Amino acid sequence: MSNTPPPSGKTPARPTIKAVRGTRDLLPAETPLWNHVEATARVVFARYGFGEIRTPIFEATELFARGVGEETDIVSKEMFTWEDRGRAASEKNSSLTLRPENTAGVVRATIEHNLFETGVLNKLYYIGPQFRRERPQRGRYRQFWQIGAEVIGPPSSGAESPLRDAEVLEMLAAYLRELGVRDWKLELNSVGSAEDRTTYSAALREALQPVKHLMCPDNQRRAETNPLRVLDSKEEADQEIINALPKIADFLSPDSRSHFEQVLAALDACAVPYTLNPRLVRGLDYYTRTTFEFTVTTGLGTQNALLGGGRYDGLSEMLGGPRAPGIGFAIGEDRLILTLQAQEELGAPSSTGSLTAGQGGVAKKLDAYIAPLGTAQNPAALALAKELRAADLSVEVGDGSFKLRKSFDIADTLACHIILLGEDEVSTNTATVKTFATGVQKKVERSALLEVLRKQDGSF
Ligand code: HAM
Repeated sequence: MSNTPPPSGKTPARPTIKAVRGTRDLLPAETPLWNHVEATARVVFARYGFGEIRTPIFEATELFARGVGEETDIVSKEMFTWEDRGRAASEKNSSLTLRPENTAGVVRATIEHNLFETGVLNKLYYIGPQFRRERPQRGRYRQFWQIGAEVIGPPSSGAESPLRDAEVLEMLAAYLRELGVRDWKLELNSVGSAEDRTTYSAALREALQPVKHLMCPDNQRRAETNPLRVLDSKEEADQEIINALPKIADFLSPDSRSHFEQVLAALDACAVPYTLNPRLVRGLDYYTRTTFEFTVTTGLGTQNALLGGGRYDGLSEMLGGPRAPGIGFAIGEDRLILTLQAQEELGAPSSTGSLTAGQGGVAKKLDAYIAPLGTAQNPAALALAKELRAADLSVEVGDGSFKLRKSFDIADTLACHIILLGEDEVSTNTATVKTFATGVQKKVERSALLEVLRKQDGSF
């Protein structure tokens, strides 16, 4: 009852409280690098017309069960879920979950705020913590950070165009180049449409039937419930069997095949190197067609996936929304930092940190909108956008399937200039540029293009 100190004169030490296993504090010595990679992402992504979205850190459990998939490791084993007691008699208890990823939340938000109704393409990026109950180790945490982006809209917005897939990949290459990340490898695959995947899953199930008893218990279960997940397995003893299984490439419909070929052609036009990996199906169920991962050899050990992503053409419908194809990625920010630190230790300084935050942004008009006049000009359009963005201009690219009127309407709201790229312009190395402020339209040599675009008044 008394406050008299114990005879020794010291107050007994209370046990200290430590950060929860798998979570970390980032101290001032480390945060400048975090801020630098985030600021660089904001500047680079703004050049491609992305705006920031922030969604809640917890959501209804149902969102992830439906969006990411009940059978995935994330949903079946790794989510932090709790039953939230309704406080008022009128409120029901609800099952809530700390977000294990942000794509489902972003798509939910675009549906909830009717962002598809405007008919335009939504280009959204996010930076924030995600939560998965994984076994902690270097590069794998229970609270980790992602820098991600999603491109999503109704089919009429061009969201389904292979140009979008290639643009997102080219943007990632540009971002990593800007940060000075070296030795990354882009692994690429197509998992086909939902129908292709059904046929392929059936073929996999059949091929696994006679051999599955030789595999680990997890793979035996997956062989029945979701055979695609067997391809993700890292179980050393099962690799020979897995490598001999049928390949998704042999089950792609002509449409899916053509989509993938166009992605590759646009990547070639932008000189983005890639490696095809037929086993890259990724651990989330929403993927269709293009899937990808960037891996690095320095700093990450076994957790060498720096980032991952892909197309998810049916996710909006799975969440009760309209048809709205999309593609996106998420970079593991913790892993990006580990990579940069390891490179630095090896004596290869990364980027200088000269970029400042808060510049760019989509509120300001973009410098130019490139309108390819046919799908054959899509790769050239993306390559031109790459060139202009590298010169620090903000640029959006349309799609060759758009009517000219539509391209002009979009360009007029988004940008100061429209650049028309037809067969003639591509073959003569010219571009037709119209400046909206003055209404002046002229064909210019490609060598003069930058100078023209930098002028807002259209004085050629
Ligand atoms: P994901 O492959 O599950 O995809 O995660 C993306 C990246 O987040 C991984 O490549 C890795 O760098 C990082 N990551 C994942 N788990 C952990 C962890 N426990 N600790 C540290 N880093 C981790 C997605 O989350 C999809 N939402 C990506 C996407 C966006 N697909 C389409 N749009």
